[in-house]
Amino acid sequence: MLTSFTELLRANQERGTALGSFTCYTFETAVAVVQAAQQRQRGVILLISEKSFAAPQGIYLVAGLRAIAEQAPIPVCLQLDHVSDLAQIERACQMGVGSVMADGSRLTFEENMTFVSQAVALGKSYGVEIEAELGRVEGNEDIASAAAAGAFTDPKQAALFAERAQPACLAVSIGNVHGIYRHPPQLDWLRLRQLRQSTTLPLSLHGASGLPDEDLRQAIRLGIAKINVNTELRASYFDLLHQQLAAMSSGLRLLELQHLLIEAQYHVSQSKMQVYEQQA
Ligand code: 13P
Repeated sequence: MLTSFTELLRANQERGTALGSFTCYTFETAVAVVQAAQQRQRGVILLISEKSFAAPQGIYLVAGLRAIAEQAPIPVCLQLDHVSDLAQIERACQMGVGSVMADGSRLTFEENMTFVSQAVALGKSYGVEIEAELGRVEGNEDIASAAAAGAFTDPKQAALFAERAQPACLAVSIGNVHGIYRHPPQLDWLRLRQLRQSTTLPLSLHGASGLPDEDLRQAIRLGIAKINVNTELRASYFDLLHQQLAAMSSGLRLLELQHLLIEAQYHVSQSKMQVYEQQA
């Protein structure tokens, strides 16, 4: 069932768990993620990448994911990820997403605050909730490539940003990157503690692919309420294709291939959700 972003965040915060958020480029991924959430009896976020939203088929992707979310027996919210353009945010609101990540991380602090305030006001008129980013989580969201950490989130700025711009959730940069970690990840735990103390806003961790499970648990213990995964799902999709393409090509077994793709991504999302519940 479709559920609001803050309701899902609140439910996880009350339990001390993190809300699983997974990028879905295809029907197979979305079905796999929903099945995994159903198995764990948890709510979940289906993320839509900005590039797949902006593509000509983006309108069908949103409608398809919305239909999956509506049919799901567990709470689901659709979030458009990393948008830095108000017109795109409004389009997404009109198309029925529950949340948008308004990414002003390339702007100055002041510009980011203004941009997010405008996105929050726009979102309010549609009942859509906004996640913001402060500092800069580097890396490509759609093409796996090695990235080094970007500008870290400043806890003092976070307090002011939360108060002035009032997003529903804040993505932090504490050594996390999208895609592949160029150097072994070293998250800045002291900074995360300070961020947690500086604001009551739910905090999100992007770039969870490639982070050890223990880091994810520690991040949740220190206050992370939402965790985004994309690259590991894409990797499992391609690994499965490599392994099965020859066998499935004989007889053009598309249905079987589809089933196997769902299964592979089910395992990835299910094991992530399991880690998100084990932090205590
Ligand atoms: P990864 O691709 O590194 O898992 O990051 C996903 C993400 O943060 C999407 O916003």
